[in-house]
Amino acid sequence: MAATVTPYNTEESKKAQVASMFDNIAHRYDFLNQLLSLGIHKGWRRKATQKLAALQPKKVLDVATGTGDFAIEINKQLKPEHITGVDISEGMLSHGRIKINEKGLAQKITLTHGDSENLPFAEASFDAVTVAFGVRNFETLDKGLSGMYRVLRQGGMLVVLEFSRPRKFPVKQLYSFYFLKMLPFIGKLFSKDARAYTYLPESVNAFPDGEQFLERMRKAGYTDVTCQSLTFGIASIYTGIKK
Ligand SMILES: C[S@@+](CC[C@H](N)C(=O)[O-])C[C@H]1O[C@@H](n2cnc3c(N)ncnc32)[C@H](O)[C@@H]1O
Repeated sequence: MAATVTPYNTEESKKAQVASMFDNIAHRYDFLNQLLSLGIHKGWRRKATQKLAALQPKKVLDVATGTGDFAIEINKQLKPEHITGVDISEGMLSHGRIKINEKGLAQKITLTHGDSENLPFAEASFDAVTVAFGVRNFETLDKGLSGMYRVLRQGGMLVVLEFSRPRKFPVKQLYSFYFLKMLPFIGKLFSKDARAYTYLPESVNAFPDGEQFLERMRKAGYTDVTCQSLTFGIASIYTGIKK
């Protein structure tokens, strides 16, 4: 298993470092997401949301919700009764709350402080649980996966959207150049956090993607697990069911 990659390589827990890092970059997060992904991230969230179309969930939990973009997309496409977004970064949540209020969605989407590894909800509280670009940042992936399993109802679905590593020439080479050279440079320039955008490729590199991630999902109890590769393997959507 790859060594734990942390944002600042300090004595603090990975969780505390991740929360500080997202607090630091929260004011630039949406802008940099758009710039660095050239807008592609929106299409990925749209596709990930479509995985829930047949289920038509009424209650959705969006874990590692950040500034709430996945929750907003889920609301737009699926119109569930309510979406709860949880995150460990107050900075990200407060930017998300402003956005949600401005869109008039405060009754539909609630953002609250919460840790994937210790979710403050009763068993079987949600029809669907979603995570976009979050699982890679969890301190203990297996604990996060089983915590999300616990709060899903029987028949409910987990949808995970996460970066993955393209394996084929020439995308692999182009991706490495962009992710390792350009992205840290642009990220540092705009976010003023020198580590945040070098941690990003490092954490993607250390993440057990593809079949390895499906195995971790099975281990946590999910069945009928699937993986769909997006944009030449730069990102993947994983789904699993609680039977
Ligand atoms: C890259 S952002 C993704 C935000 C949002 N889901 C999106 O699609 O833009 C990752 C988020 O995961 C959150 N996070 C990391 N570990 C977490 C945990 N254990 N529990 C809840 N949130 C966590 C971070 O605070 C951060 O806001």
